[in-house]
Amino acid sequence: MRLDDTLKRLQLIVVTGKGGVGKTALACTIGRLLAEAGRKTLVLEVDPRENVHQMLGVAPSGGAVVPAGSDLWVQNLKPEEVLDALVRERLHIEFLVRRVLASPVYTQFSAGAPGLKELGILGHALRLLRGAAGSGAPALDTVVLDAPATGHGVRLLTAPKLVAEVIESGPFSDLAKELASWLADPAAVGVVIATQAEEMPVTEALELAVELEDRFGRQPIALVVNGLYPPLAEATAPGPLRDLWRERRRLNERELAHLRAAWVGPILTLPLLPIDRGPELVATLGRCLSPGLEAERMSVATS
Ligand SMILES: Nc1ncnc2c1ncn2[C@@H]1O[C@H](COP(=O)(O)OP(=O)(O)O)[C@@H](O)[C@H]1O
Ligand SMILES: [Mg+2]
Repeated sequence: MRLDDTLKRLQLIVVTGKGGVGKTALACTIGRLLAEAGRKTLVLEVDPRENVHQMLGVAPSGGAVVPAGSDLWVQNLKPEEVLDALVRERLHIEFLVRRVLASPVYTQFSAGAPGLKELGILGHALRLLRGAAGSGAPALDTVVLDAPATGHGVRLLTAPKLVAEVIESGPFSDLAKELASWLADPAAVGVVIATQAEEMPVTEALELAVELEDRFGRQPIALVVNGLYPPLAEATAPGPLRDLWRERRRLNERELAHLRAAWVGPILTLPLLPIDRGPELVATLGRCLSPGLEAERMSVATS
């Protein structure tokens, strides 16, 4: 199947990778392309800096779901708050909810227990996709998650299974089981790794792909190599800048070859653009990404 069609069928696209490689730019670019294709899409960010808002030209909105164009919404998520909302939704009897939320056991548990924050984030995404009332969003087709940096990305995906193994009954257990089986469905959830064609990011992207395979039993649907130096124009005047550019480009080509030799799945590239963070960058990156999404085929996903 074409990679763009694969993306259009997914409910959750997790964009992961090391910070600073363009993860947020890529999440916004994918979100925008999906919205342009008519999918009701939300780009979900878990980072207090609200970079997604800036990237899509939306004012900081303090946690609310806000529109960012036709069929496109953004939300900056506060994980602590969504966990409480999930408890409310799962425990239907109001007095019980109040008791649970006020209890010191819950407070300590939700702040400290490994995996619960991740459960909150994923549970929130699933709720939005099911059109949870009061979220401010319509029934969505897709959530693009700008995931926390590398190691946390894998933790996010493995958390439900781990929590389900540790907690055997009750609302958290039910939620964890539900999320684990959702994540295990390659037709519903896909992972995209963002990286750059430099030594460290390439090594880390390959490690991340291996870790995903080992711990989550899944290949990423694509690696996206961002910020490639465009080939130098023939007419460029000689000088130190030209030499530097040429050197960066040479390094990019070497690392791209390294990546291609080490990973057989789809690899897409995005150029370094002379555009500041914002909607114009996202629109231009979208035009750069589309041909690759149309040309690449998706290798068969395993779960
Ligand atoms: N292809 C690109 N061309 C030019 N600038 C880019 C590109 N990709 C990302 N940037 C810029 O690089 C910075 C880091 O990108 P960002 O997406 O926020 O990275 P991350 O989320 O991985 O930390 C931002 O200022 C962004 O605008
Ligand atoms: Mg970011």
